[in-house]
Amino acid sequence: MEERMDEQGRRGSVITVFSTASAVGKTLVAINMAAELARLGFRVCLVDVDLQFGDVCNYLHLVPERTIADAQRAAETNADYFDVMQFLDVYQCDAISFSVMAAPLRLDEAYNMSGMSVQHILQQLQFHFDFVVVDTTSAFSETNLMIMDMSTIITFLGIVDFIPTIKNMKIGSDTIRSLGYESSKIRLVLNRSNSKTKIDLEDVEHILGEPFYHILSNDFSAAWDATMAGVPLVRSANTALARDLRALVARLTNLEVEEQADADSGVSSWFKRIFN
Ligand SMILES: Nc1ncnc2c1ncn2[C@@H]1O[C@H](COP(=O)(O)OP(=O)(O)OP(=O)(O)O)[C@@H](O)[C@H]1O
Ligand SMILES: [Mg+2]
Repeated sequence: MEERMDEQGRRGSVITVFSTASAVGKTLVAINMAAELARLGFRVCLVDVDLQFGDVCNYLHLVPERTIADAQRAAETNADYFDVMQFLDVYQCDAISFSVMAAPLRLDEAYNMSGMSVQHILQQLQFHFDFVVVDTTSAFSETNLMIMDMSTIITFLGIVDFIPTIKNMKIGSDTIRSLGYESSKIRLVLNRSNSKTKIDLEDVEHILGEPFYHILSNDFSAAWDATMAGVPLVRSANTALARDLRALVARLTNLEVEEQADADSGVSSWFKRIFN
């Protein structure tokens, strides 16, 4: 398999979207990050690692021909001839085009996937794309921790609605920090910022110990319309949410980041760092 790298010999960046609560907008943000990066001219692959209940293809109205489970089977069957590019679908809307690796279609397939195999697939994708955007689940699972280890940036998404959500965000952000990553690797992003809540944003930032890196507005009808149409919000800049999402990507791509995270680190590294 031919390996592609940029002119500096680096592999593509991995941007992971993670949260410690469900339904905070991970999939919406991951899709729009991928779409915006593609709109800017980057080679992008969006990978749905919400293995059991992935929504990427539903949101994009894609019917996947292959999934990450097929990729795992192929890699295990014949590692020497494994070509990750054969397991991608293409999303296209106007001038926006990016590759998608779909979540497994069946729960048993999801159950049989390992963190090691997901990490291997992501590493293979880094040879072909400028950005690999990863949609995850809200859990400190083995798979998610292995993805975080190899990520260039972790977009840690939160919303301010109920006290338990904030408590879990605090546990999550403290835990990620305890992993010893560069601080620039973790970006706290607030979603649905102007939704009605009695909780003061400054209090939340005080609890978390740092301000949010970026804030996305709450826009139910824009989010709904985009999902119904199967198109990314960033296709046009006619809503505040689309502009916020575009601005997030502009900031992420302009800032210098620790380019190549420790791709060799596996289970033992994060396990030791959390549980020592
Ligand atoms: N900024 C926003 N304004 C309004 N609605 C939003 C916003 N972000 C996300 N939503 C809506 O919130 C719902 C949950 O979003 P999404 O599916 O992206 O969350 P998730 O974190 O991926 O959920 P899960 O944990 O189930 O994977 C969706 O209906 C989505 O359209
Ligand atoms: Mg999701």
